[in-house]
Formats: sequence, C-alpha cells, structure tokens
Amino acid sequence: MTGSTRDHWQGVYEQKADTSVSWYEATPLLSLSLIEATAIAPPARIIDIGGGASRLVDHLVARGFGVSVLDLSGAALGLARTRLGARASGVTWIEADVRHFAASTPFDLWHDRAALHFLTAREDQQAYVAALGHGLRRSGIAIIGTFAPDGPEKCSGLPVQRHDAESLALLLGKDFRLVSTTRHNHLTPGGGTQKFQFSTFQRVPA
Ligand SMILES: C[S@@+](CC[C@H](N)C(=O)[O-])C[C@H]1O[C@@H](n2cnc3c(N)ncnc32)[C@H](O)[C@@H]1O
Repeated sequence: MTGSTRDHWQGVYEQKADTSVSWYEATPLLSLSLIEATAIAPPARIIDIGGGASRLVDHLVARGFGVSVLDLSGAALGLARTRLGARASGVTWIEADVRHFAASTPFDLWHDRAALHFLTAREDQQAYVAALGHGLRRSGIAIIGTFAPDGPEKCSGLPVQRHDAESLALLLGKDFRLVSTTRHNHLTPGGGTQKFQFSTFQRVPA
C-alpha cells in the first residue's frame, strides 16, 4: 500500500460528497458515547486515526478536547477544515499514513473508526500497532471500530480485514487490556446496513 492507496482516497473525497460515502454519519453518536464512557476528559488530547471528513472532530473540539486528525487524504482533511472554519485552527491536521506515524508526544486517547480494517497485510497491521504503541500514553485508551466478522468484505472497493474483540486483542498484544466491546449496525446513506464492532482497550501502566 503506497501512493496508489493515497490516490484512491484522494479521488474518493474529491469526487464524492462527504455526505454520500457509505461510512458517513451525521453525528458519530457511538464514538462519542464510548469516549464519554472512559475516564479521559477535556482538555485531554485525542487523535482520530483515518478521521477523514468525519464530524467527530467538531464534537470533540466543542467539548474542549485537544484534537488531532490524521488521514492519508489531504482532500478529506480539507473538507473537515473548511467545515470547521475558524475552529479549524485549534485542531492539528496530520496528512500521513498511520503505518509511518510517530507521534512526538503520546496522546491520551486514540480513536479509529474504519481505518485499521484496510490494513490486511500482517506487516501493515504490525506497523499500525507500532504507531499505536508510540502514539498512546501508558494507561491511555484506544477505541477501534472495524467491520465485524459478519460485516462487509470490502469498503470503498478495497478489501478489508474484519475483526472482533479477540482478533484485535491478539493483534494489539499484552500491552493492551480489553475494557469493552460492542456490536453496531451502521446505516449507510444508501440505505444499507453494515455490521461493525467497536472495542475499547486500555494500555497497561508501565
Ligand atoms: C472508511 S473511511 C472512515 C473515515 C472516518 N474515520 C469516518 O468514520 O468517517 C477510512 C479513512 O481512512 C483513511 N485511511 C485509509 N488508510 C489509511 C492509512 N494507511 N493511514 C491513514 N489514513 C488512512 C482514508 O483516507 C479514509 O478517510
């Protein structure tokens, strides 16, 4: 996965309305409730991995969190920045591939809705876990949403690796303790239903 993947995502966000893509949600209710269920409170620092043009950043900024949004697609980040207007300057926008992301300061909470599942090769998944290990402080929280084992096999025309809490726990390793997991039916703008799982992990103290 290299330039062509970035081109794919750039093309998606340049050619389609962000409200018409299958993963669009007007309000990221589940993500917000899972974040609220943790002990991480404003002004803690949250990073949204593969955040795209998601509205999550709007809500987190309004709550007083320090927010960073990382995405492969500058076009996606541009859509979110434009939407936020003056509030965009308070957000750190990171155009990068998560597999090569080395945070300078670890975050309190790592959120990922539908980015990890595009990493289907073992070495890419391991690179993601290395970025997570670098980017999340000890005792910090990781909330990871992916297609569930009975969810779609593809998203945006790309193959995905579906997960449940057990496969994620195996991937993340002993440094992460499963806190909770939930299944979720996402209703797409086209009227379909996609089966997701969202799992919350806590990084163990040193
Ligand atoms: C299905 S979309 C989900 C977007 C957003 N999380 C949401 O819930 O609306 C997947 C996003 O992951 C991004 N992405 C895919 N692979 C990535 C990678 N290796 N590094 C960073 N972002 C990536 C894409 O550009 C896209 O914005």
